[in-house]
Amino acid sequence: MEEMKNDNIGEESIAEKVTDAGEFAGYDDEAEYNRELRERAEREERDRQLPPDPDAILEVRHLKKYFVLKKNLLGKPLTTLKAVDDVSFTVKAGETLGIVGESGCGKTTMGRTVLKLHQPTGGQIFFQGKEIAGYKSKEMRPLRTKMQIVFQDPYSSLPPRSTVGDILSEPVKVHNIVPPDKVKDYVLKLMEQCGLRDYYYERYPHEFSGGQRQRICIARALAVNPELVICDEPVSALDVSIQAQIINLLKRLQKERKLTYIFISHDLSVVKYISDKIGLMYLGSMVEFGNKKEIFDDPMHPYTVALFSAVPNPDPDARSEHIILKGDIPSPVNPPKGCKFHTRCSKAMEICKHIAPEYKEYGEGHFVACHYCEQGHKNV
Ligand SMILES: Nc1ncnc2c1ncn2[C@@H]1O[C@H](COP(=O)(O)OP(=O)(O)OP(=O)(O)O)[C@@H](O)[C@H]1O
Ligand code: SF4
Ligand SMILES: [Mg+2]
Repeated sequence: MEEMKNDNIGEESIAEKVTDAGEFAGYDDEAEYNRELRERAEREERDRQLPPDPDAILEVRHLKKYFVLKKNLLGKPLTTLKAVDDVSFTVKAGETLGIVGESGCGKTTMGRTVLKLHQPTGGQIFFQGKEIAGYKSKEMRPLRTKMQIVFQDPYSSLPPRSTVGDILSEPVKVHNIVPPDKVKDYVLKLMEQCGLRDYYYERYPHEFSGGQRQRICIARALAVNPELVICDEPVSALDVSIQAQIINLLKRLQKERKLTYIFISHDLSVVKYISDKIGLMYLGSMVEFGNKKEIFDDPMHPYTVALFSAVPNPDPDARSEHIILKGDIPSPVNPPKGCKFHTRCSKAMEICKHIAPEYKEYGEGHFVACHYCEQGHKNV
């Protein structure tokens, strides 16, 4: 195991202080969890005082989205699902942030919360320097055109009784993107840019294949000239042969229109192709975040390493050890204490069962939450 020099961790870490099982005999996990929550609240409060990052089109700080599944008769929450729990990241204009993680880890909820399609439970969202987390729907209205989403399923996301022309004209009219007499020309030009023939204008969604429907969905999202587009698994429902066409269309449109993407996917090869930065999510938390090159060349978190090890490597000389993630994903309603990944982690230590690792910066813009990395180990 290679040793890693880490200049960014100034103070002595908890992981260095507490290393073996003996030190945890009779450890009060409940008290530790309360301490963790207190420290998180303090960090959030401290960060709240900071100005927004001037280089970021989107900055998310300590974002939370909890769903209350069960209440008592007085309306007090009895069961809460923490779908997104303290997620922070920044994206610069024109960049693509890829979000990766297993099913149920909170990718969609995070994307929808950023767009305020879900009201955040806590945290801050800065869009173009404005703090929008607390915005009501009226205040969000002028921003709606700037932030759009493309969904995974192009079959259910298009109204079956409207023609392509109507589907694409509607947002243009509602948001007064062009004068009424210019709407048809505008829509036809948009269709051309998205690879849709002009005679599709009069046709209905059921007449099209999945790939063409996804082009219609992309055109609908772009009709209002957005700056940020969240693409939630936009190619997962498509045939492999069509996926590349849609990815290349998204890439071309990004260049032509200077778009910023958040690209959600569980397909690492697609994420590698399209992203500038990558965030790995596990049970509602961001466990690793950084530039694509660093994440792929130098993955640090054991979850990232395990996910990447499952991707076939075309280089026959490359060392490839498939790390099998043991066990099922725990329930997000009752996640494991300490590090949420400890029940499946090949590097788990005693400390991981009791104390949650802090999300720390290990290199410029490369964040990881892991005791093993904190102790100076390198994971590859
Ligand atoms: N409206 C809701 N009410 C209650 N729970 C929800 C709601 N939406 C999502 N969840 C739960 O939140 C968790 C995260 O769900 P989410 O859909 O964000 O995951 P995901 O990473 O997008 O998964 P997938 O890869 O399957 O799309 C899941 O446990 C899900 O059941
Ligand atoms: S903190 Fe521990 S359990 Fe969690 S990822 Fe790191 S080594 Fe694994
Ligand atoms: Mg999803």
